[in-house]
Amino acid sequence: MGILDIENLKISFGGNTIFSDINISIKENEVYGLIGTNGAGKTTIFNIVSGILKADSGRIIFNNKDITGLKPYQVAKEGIGRCFQTVLPFKSMTPYENIKVARAHARKVPKEEEMSIEEILKMTNLESKRDVLTSQLTLPDKKNVEIARALATNPKLILFDEMASGLSGEEIVDRMNLIRELSKRGITIVVVEHIMLFIKQICDRVGVLHAGSLIAEGTPEEVGQDEKVIDAYLGKGSL
Ligand SMILES: Nc1ncnc2c1ncn2[C@@H]1O[C@H](COP(=O)(O)OP(=O)(O)OP(=O)(O)O)[C@@H](O)[C@H]1O
Ligand SMILES: [Mg+2]
Repeated sequence: MGILDIENLKISFGGNTIFSDINISIKENEVYGLIGTNGAGKTTIFNIVSGILKADSGRIIFNNKDITGLKPYQVAKEGIGRCFQTVLPFKSMTPYENIKVARAHARKVPKEEEMSIEEILKMTNLESKRDVLTSQLTLPDKKNVEIARALATNPKLILFDEMASGLSGEEIVDRMNLIRELSKRGITIVVVEHIMLFIKQICDRVGVLHAGSLIAEGTPEEVGQDEKVIDAYLGKGSL
């Protein structure tokens, strides 16, 4: 049993089955990468886990508890943090205020286990911009606010949806370092990402979603050499 078990998951929209019988077991404290072609259903899996969408069938077990069908705020209180593919922070608030609001809905943990707001601002490079309106920040900084909000909920596990896309090389390295730091602190991480270098450098294991099922799972090296994955997704690129 993992910290997060996705069991027999199926979803269709308007009669069109996106995937069926998806099983993924995320181990405590690993960095797991979920990759696959556009429209394969990666974000949809995150939406189901975080309570935004309801699956047709299947179960989500987190920390030995069945959380299937819980509302997003209840899932957050269980300890699952979420960063969206499209940035969604409250734009009329400053980074500091965004973090404060997220903290108000956080999982309850002893004070000494909690990352302080100052620490979160520092980790996400927002210290100097803490009081600037989020609407006035650059895209990378808006993404940082999104990450900071997720950290403020005291997560045991974080779902990162394309946190590195649209960023420069240096900014991507910053994101990789942040993930390594969070992992060192014992947080389990699931990333969806199209940037293969990122996946290869930070993931312990990778799952590949294609045409409605998980076609491969293993270390980045194993998955990168898998014929099915090369045909379906990687093409001439490599992992
Ligand atoms: N709420 C919804 N209603 C109807 N169709 C949806 C909904 N959410 C997702 N879909 C469809 O489900 C499929 C999977 O979408 P999803 O966003 O999960 O893909 P993805 O793997 O995250 O792709 P990308 O790499 O482009 O982000 C797509 O065909 C999408 O149009
Ligand atoms: Mg997506």
